[in-house]
Amino acid sequence: MAVPELRLNQVTLRPAAPRDADLLRQWRAETSVRRYQPLNELPTAQLRADVASQRMADLYRGRGEKFQWIVQVDGQPAGWITLVVSNWEHGLAEVGYALSTVFQNRGVMSEALAILLDDLFHNTLLERVEARCAVENVGSQRVLEKSGFEREGRLRGYFKLRGRRVDNFLYSLLREDYLARRMR
Ligand SMILES: CC(C)(COP(=O)(O)OP(=O)(O)OC[C@H]1O[C@@H](n2cnc3c(N)ncnc32)[C@H](O)[C@@H]1OP(=O)(O)O)[C@@H](O)C(=O)NCCC(=O)NCCS
Repeated sequence: MAVPELRLNQVTLRPAAPRDADLLRQWRAETSVRRYQPLNELPTAQLRADVASQRMADLYRGRGEKFQWIVQVDGQPAGWITLVVSNWEHGLAEVGYALSTVFQNRGVMSEALAILLDDLFHNTLLERVEARCAVENVGSQRVLEKSGFEREGRLRGYFKLRGRRVDNFLYSLLREDYLARRMR
């Protein structure tokens, strides 16, 4: 009898650190990572400075604008999640994410988002988390829907990707919907 392969694939999140800058630059250059989203080529120094300026404690005090985490699979860096807070008074933020090619389509991002959303809705003042993705990015839409996000509409010609304007879907998840879903 064949012995089934043991796969742990434990997904964890940790705040991004300046030492991750080169990894972030490499991931951003991968073809599959850029397929559905316009990512500027940023030098390592800028990525490092961005990460160095984040104060993760601010998120839990209702302050700060941009926060970034590294998604890990069995302790190995696999991708990132970014949270941009647009308005603390109303508790509004937007999430963005990507995985390096070899870690895609293994259910990793859904698990990573579950960890983050649980933290955000239990430990911060955020009330509404938004996400946007290109209408062709079916994998990303599946992840959002599996995570409880609702599609709210189509943003026409939202960004330019390889010379072509691309429509996006807008998704959101409200704290009350998230908590009600957890109770079920
Ligand atoms: C999009 C992305 C984050 C998804 O994360 P992931 O961990 O690979 O996704 P999961 O494995 O949890 O789920 C993907 C789901 O989409 C489905 N899917 C993926 N591509 C698909 C396609 N072209 N058509 C239909 N379904 C597709 C998978 O079958 C899976 O569905 P299931 O959970 O019902 O089995 C990841 O692939 C990625 O980083 N891509 C490159 C960067 C990117 O596009 N980021 C998002 C920008 S909005």
